[in-house]
Amino acid sequence: MKSVRFCNMKPGCRIFLPCKSAPFLVVPFPQASKFSVYSNFQFRTHKFHTCSSRFSGFKTIFNNAQRSCSSQNRNWGQSGILSNTHCRDSCPRSHFVIACAASNIRDLSTSVKTHVNDKNFERIYVHGGLNAKPLAVEKIDLDSNATINEDEIKSENLENDLKSERSDETKSERSDETKSVRAGKEESEVEKEAWRLLRNAIVSYCGSPVGTLAANDPNDKLPLNYDQVFIRDFVPSAFAFLLKGEGEIVRNFLLHTLQLQSWEKTVDCYSPGQGLMPASFKVRSVALDDNKFEEVLDPDFGESAIGRVAPVDSGLWWIILLRAYGKLTGDYALQERVDVQTGIKLILNLCLSDGFDMFPSLLVTDGSCMIDRRMGIHGHPLEIQALFYSALRCSREMLTLDDGSKNLVRAVSNRLSALSFHIREYYWVDLKKINEIYRYKTEEYSMEATNKFNIYPEQIPHWLMHWIPETGGYLIGNLQPAHMDFRFFTLGNLWSIVSSLGTPKQNEAILNLIEAKWVDLIGQMPLKICYPALESEEWRVITGSDPKNTPWSYHNGGSWPTLLWQFTLACMKMGRTELAKEAITLAEKRLQTDQWPEYYDTRNGKFIGKQARLYQTWSIAGYLTSKMLLDNPEMASLLFWEEDYDLLESCVCALSNSSRKKCSRRLAKSQILV
Ligand code: GLC
Repeated sequence: MKSVRFCNMKPGCRIFLPCKSAPFLVVPFPQASKFSVYSNFQFRTHKFHTCSSRFSGFKTIFNNAQRSCSSQNRNWGQSGILSNTHCRDSCPRSHFVIACAASNIRDLSTSVKTHVNDKNFERIYVHGGLNAKPLAVEKIDLDSNATINEDEIKSENLENDLKSERSDETKSERSDETKSVRAGKEESEVEKEAWRLLRNAIVSYCGSPVGTLAANDPNDKLPLNYDQVFIRDFVPSAFAFLLKGEGEIVRNFLLHTLQLQSWEKTVDCYSPGQGLMPASFKVRSVALDDNKFEEVLDPDFGESAIGRVAPVDSGLWWIILLRAYGKLTGDYALQERVDVQTGIKLILNLCLSDGFDMFPSLLVTDGSCMIDRRMGIHGHPLEIQALFYSALRCSREMLTLDDGSKNLVRAVSNRLSALSFHIREYYWVDLKKINEIYRYKTEEYSMEATNKFNIYPEQIPHWLMHWIPETGGYLIGNLQPAHMDFRFFTLGNLWSIVSSLGTPKQNEAILNLIEAKWVDLIGQMPLKICYPALESEEWRVITGSDPKNTPWSYHNGGSWPTLLWQFTLACMKMGRTELAKEAITLAEKRLQTDQWPEYYDTRNGKFIGKQARLYQTWSIAGYLTSKMLLDNPEMASLLFWEEDYDLLESCVCALSNSSRKKCSRRLAKSQILV
């Protein structure tokens, strides 16, 4: 496989997940020295004693687990602290040792009791000793220790086995169904080539498919990180495989990336939050002592990425994909697994934790999503909010309800309700709303302010006054105090339709706007990533004079064929399939001849992008997924969400009884929410 390379780094300096013996359960040693001179990006040291002191019973599990390993592991696990020397002297073997231990710990972790705090939902702690995620799910509660009940463990494991059997039955039924839906459909030559290319891009790890390369151009001598599996890029590949009835690669991907989530990496001695999913990973080959090689997974959490951008969208996409996998294969046992449930909780914990935020939208740094360079999308960009909303809806469906999760589920529902209100009310613009903003009063100090964010009407850009059609509207790109980013960002708008973040009327209006502005947003190649481009001084200040993001290129107004599948899904949901078909026909005319570029440049997407990769996998997969969605409307319907009326009902605003402060949501609800 192309992506497997010799490792030129010391094993142990980097985060590696080897496949030997236990593909989903292997945990390598971290480099013990926190301030090692080897690299800026290294493991954080975790002291084993943290586990035993905070988590009574852990030692017992650990020792049990360790006993079940082969004799070569026998001495390990007896001491309380993993020593650096141990790692350096025996790293390759240690992988195996820890693999065994971690595997049992993972199985047993389900019975660890969680404790619920009044204000916050449960906090999830991953004990760092082994850096293995599901060691414990623990509530911050200094008064009590978590306990373990072995009977519970056994009965839970038994129940899981049974669930898995039940799900296998459903799975095979579903898989037959999938095949029959596809049967009899003659693929065009373009589709055949696309499938061949997609399969060529598959990355294997220890003999199993685990993902697809971002790009697979045989003539590209400088692939940078395009020879990695990107979490977001794999999503359309995953959908293509799932719609084809091939779930294995998706299942492997979900489980392997889950393992990577458990690692902490540091950027100049600072660790991003636990629960972060990597932006991408690579399968590397590392040399063992005896002239043998071992495959390892090497994740990038943004610490190698250009600009050191945070991959906030990765975890959100992972949750969305997990749900889709269940829906399309019938294998719900996967999402019910303890380690998978813990993975979901870790992501949610990271997203729902308290900070300085004033809004229910998720606060992020610039370039934290598909647009992974500086483009003025820091703060509360729409794309992240739409993915966040979807991930919350997916989680609400997938979280196993028990005493330990009920507060988290409540927190998820409250956030969903607050977030949808916030976006529907404050991000929405159409002709009428722009006219309102145009006449806004400013400097309003009070709870009753109409212009809550103190938007100066002069901010309305000239292009928008001319551009906004009579019918239709859209959700703006970002909202901050005294700042509305009026650019149209396609992915955020499309995903708001798919997830029902927008109201039914708003969702319809977004498609009306795309239709009315077809030349600008679809042009010669669907679809513009954002409209319009930043030019001149704005480009200089906002992008930092980025030569890759020049006006109408790449992220700055370029056209990205991968967005076709999201457009198709949105159109199908809204009963506007003809729009999707038209866009697919346009793309079909060029994609194969142009060798499946990553993006197109110019106002109308006339030219292949200046620095666009060829044989870009998500361009290929996006096209295939679009075609298959059109062929299988029932399956497509499993992948979008309708309005959730329960969410509209629940207003969690605690201020509603106060005479001084009014709950603006209650007032606005009747007008905006339906
Ligand atoms: C570019 C894109 C990003 C994508 C990556 C790999 O950096 O901006 O969204 O994930 O390439 O294709």
